[in-house]
Amino acid sequence: MRDPVQPGPTEWGQGRHGVGPWKDEHPHSAIPTDPRLDPQLLSEGDRRNVVDAYRYWTRESIIADIDQRRHPLHIAIENFENDSNIGTVVRTANAFAVDTVHIVGRKRWNRRGAMVTDRYQHLQHHSDTAALLRWAEAQGLTVVAIDNIPGSVPLETVELPRHCLFLFGQEGPGVTEEAQLGSSMTCSIAQFGSTRSINAGVAAGIAMHSWIRQHADLSAAW
Ligand SMILES: C[S@@+](CC[C@H](N)C(=O)[O-])C[C@H]1O[C@@H](n2cnc3c(N)ncnc32)[C@H](O)[C@@H]1O
Repeated sequence: MRDPVQPGPTEWGQGRHGVGPWKDEHPHSAIPTDPRLDPQLLSEGDRRNVVDAYRYWTRESIIADIDQRRHPLHIAIENFENDSNIGTVVRTANAFAVDTVHIVGRKRWNRRGAMVTDRYQHLQHHSDTAALLRWAEAQGLTVVAIDNIPGSVPLETVELPRHCLFLFGQEGPGVTEEAQLGSSMTCSIAQFGSTRSINAGVAAGIAMHSWIRQHADLSAAW
């Protein structure tokens, strides 16, 4: 049984996964000269939390590769009270090759939950919700607020726009009225227990996966 105090297999920086120096991993093959590869990682090993296909790749090359196949899905989260869920949102957005994560309000957010995935994810800051909504309109994105409030439609049955920006609220206040009014619709995630709401990071994961199920090319997944 796994030691419960040890980190899980995908947690970064523990030296429990990844590859060692190229010469140890491939003793019979010359060090490759592919410009996407990082000479330092080739010589010292690559223990980063990246999929095996990106072993030894420079950060810039990884970002450029994902950029070629990012989805037309954007995620925004209101951050007026410094929401600790943003790291989780960024990590999940990275996993689903979301175009950009937008932070609305306070610029600072707790990066811990992102597990370094923010290095590979485009992030954009907007001073307030009005600025985000103006930006989305200029980009031709349909804004969909996500919250379980009166008037919301079930995420489980709705047809989601392809060029889409999901807008999430924060713990406590939920999605602001300004965000609701500026969105084409508000979608709720069906609940069946006693709690009024689920964690915003979890809600973001569910919503992103709903979009993936409707619009992504699953044959392109790892
Ligand atoms: C903890 S909730 C906010 C509080 C909630 N409105 C309440 O009345 O308790 C934080 C955010 O998570 C998302 N969220 C949580 N539960 C949800 C649900 N069942 N459906 C849709 N979004 C949800 C929304 O974006 C919401 O603004």
